[in-house]
Amino acid sequence: MSDTVRVQWFPGHMAKTRRLITESLPLIDGVVEIVDARIPVSSRNPELDSWLGAKPRIILLNKADVADEETTNRWVTYYEKKNILALPVDCKTGKGLTGFTQTIHRLLGETLEKFKAKGMVGRTLRLMVVGIPNVGKSSFINRMAGGNKAKVADKPGVTRGNQWFSIGNGVELMDTAGVLWPKFDDPTVGERLAFTGAVKDVVTDTELLAVRLLDIVGLNFASRLEERYKITIPDDMDGYGLLQLIGKKRGMLISGGEIDTERASVMVLDEYRGGKWGRISLEFPGGEA
Ligand code: G4P
Repeated sequence: MSDTVRVQWFPGHMAKTRRLITESLPLIDGVVEIVDARIPVSSRNPELDSWLGAKPRIILLNKADVADEETTNRWVTYYEKKNILALPVDCKTGKGLTGFTQTIHRLLGETLEKFKAKGMVGRTLRLMVVGIPNVGKSSFINRMAGGNKAKVADKPGVTRGNQWFSIGNGVELMDTAGVLWPKFDDPTVGERLAFTGAVKDVVTDTELLAVRLLDIVGLNFASRLEERYKITIPDDMDGYGLLQLIGKKRGMLISGGEIDTERASVMVLDEYRGGKWGRISLEFPGGEA
């Protein structure tokens, strides 16, 4: 396998994010954390756990339509064992979101009981939506708020800049505070975010990135590549070998008959990001890709 691709990242938002999120906590009853089902570890900020304290939380494994179904189900079980409810969803089409507000009522049963005991019958449940950029926060809110996108009237004590959306059944979602930044201490995190396109503009070495992706996919989902590119992959072929094989098959040649690996790399990344290889996960519970 080739060395991990170093992704340049510009830190500095973390302190602000932390402040925004922790300041919002007294206003909310629970948190909807959105992660990318293909990379549920790399697409979340591990600091969030300590920021949230005991606030009830639901994890949405979004983009489940492009993640491997069996792997996503294993992630659901993984979170279940940690007593966290995780739902595979596709916020583009709304798949997996039917009954979401009922699920929230179940999750926040104790909170509702407390409201009742205090005579606050009919008090809405307020949820903060958090997730890294491009993970699907807006898609989720738009889908849930539907035609009812009107902002909920200002509430006393609501941090300026936060927007509230009613999604029916006594549930409201809060937007804007929740833009999290991924953690880049581990270089594989940056690399995986680059594979999915979450940080595509800051990657410098496209060819190495494509080779690394092919290393991982060749290991776990070789048959998808064979189907897509009509190739037979010899045993022990590494990512670079795969890139050449795919480039050759697609007739991407430069003068002298050499394979245009640069062009092949761009195509490989585009096709993976566009879901052309089928449903492929890059992180697995209890193990590395
Ligand atoms: P954000 O608010 O967290 O930044 O994310 P946003 O909703 O803007 O979504 C980022 C991209 O991810 C969008 O694609 C969106 O369509 C896509 N997306 C969101 N949810 C899903 C999902 O469940 N499945 C899949 N396959 N894609 C999803 P885009 O290319 O930036 O925009 P567009 O071309 O779809 O308009």
